[in-house]
Amino acid sequence: GNDPGGMLKALWNLPEQCEEAERIAQAIDVNFTATEIKNVMVTGLGGSAIGGDLLRVYAGGKAAVPVIVNRDYTLPAFVDASTLLFAVSYSGNTEETLSAYAQAKEKGAKIIVLTTGGKLGQMAEADGYPVIKVPGGISPRAATGYLLIPTIVIMAKIGLLPDAGDEIKDLTGHLRVLREHLKPAVPVEQNLAKQLATRFYNRLPVIWGVSGTTEVVAQRWKGQINENAKAPAYWAVLPELNHNEIVGFEKPENVLKQLEVVILRDRADHPRVQKRIEISKTIIKDAVSGVTEVYSSGNSSLARTFSLTYTGDYMSVYLATLYGIDPTPVKMIDFLKQKLA
Ligand code: PA5
Repeated sequence: GNDPGGMLKALWNLPEQCEEAERIAQAIDVNFTATEIKNVMVTGLGGSAIGGDLLRVYAGGKAAVPVIVNRDYTLPAFVDASTLLFAVSYSGNTEETLSAYAQAKEKGAKIIVLTTGGKLGQMAEADGYPVIKVPGGISPRAATGYLLIPTIVIMAKIGLLPDAGDEIKDLTGHLRVLREHLKPAVPVEQNLAKQLATRFYNRLPVIWGVSGTTEVVAQRWKGQINENAKAPAYWAVLPELNHNEIVGFEKPENVLKQLEVVILRDRADHPRVQKRIEISKTIIKDAVSGVTEVYSSGNSSLARTFSLTYTGDYMSVYLATLYGIDPTPVKMIDFLKQKLA
C-alpha cells in the first residue's frame, strides 16, 4: 500500500511506543545505587546510538554524572566498575556493539542491555545482566522511543536523574497533537514536514543545530534523510560552525546554489548563539538555495526535542516518497554487514 515497511505506521505510534517503553523499563530491577556510578555510557550504532545522544543532551542539564556515547568496537580506558553501561542494539546483532559489550563485561562495568533480542539479548541473559526487551518488527530508527525512554527511566530509578514521569506524560501528549499536523492526510499547505521535504527535494540538505538544545536533532535529520530518503545530507552545530563551516559559503557558486539550509531552533538556545544565528543567516542567504528556520514546540525539554525529531522523521519519509523510494530497506547497511560476515 502507501506505507511499505510500515514506516508511517511506526511514526504514528511513537507516543504509544514511548508509553510502552516507560512501562517496560519500570519493571526492570537494578541492584546498584547512584553512589556507585561515576559515569554513564551508551554504546551502539546508528538508530540505536542516537537515543544515547538524546540522553546525553537531556542529562547534560540535569544529571551530576556525564553521559558518553560510544560508537565503536572498543571502549575508552576509563570504563570500569563505576560505569553504568547501556549496550543498545535494536537487532541485537550489530558486531561493534557485541564487541563493546564483551569489553564492558571484562572491565566489570555495570551493564544493562536494551534490545529486541538477538545475540546480545542471549549473551546478556546468560551472563545475568538486566535485559530491557523491547518489541521488534520496526526499523531501529523508528524505535527511538524504545531506545531512549528506558535509559531515562533507569537513570531516574537509580537516582541519577530526577523522576521523568511527568515529562514523559507531557511528551506523549504533545506528540499526539503533533502527529495530527504531520500525518499524510494533511495537505502540504498545512503540513510542515511535507513543506520541508519539498524544499529538500533535488537539493543538498544542510541542517544546523545548536549545542545543548537541537544538536542531536540536526544529526538525526541528516541520518533520517540518508536512511529513509537514500539521499545525501550534512549537519553542523552552532556556535562551532561559526568558527569553520561559515567560511565555506564563498565558493563554488554553482555548488552553494544546491544547498538548502535549515536551522533548528529552541527557546533555550544561548542568547549569544541566537545572535550568531541572525548574523550567520545574512552571511549565507544570497549564496544558497534557501534558508529556513524551524522552532521546537512544547513545554518540557523532552517534548521540545521530540517535536523537532518527529517533524524530521515525517519529512524524511515524505522526501522518500518524492524520490519514489521505499524508506524502510537500507540495502547498503545490509550489504556491508553481509560483506563483513
Ligand atoms: O536505523 C538503522 O537501520 C541503522 O542505523 C541501525 O540502527 C544500525 O545499523 C545498527 O543496528 P542495530 O540498531 O540493530 O544495532
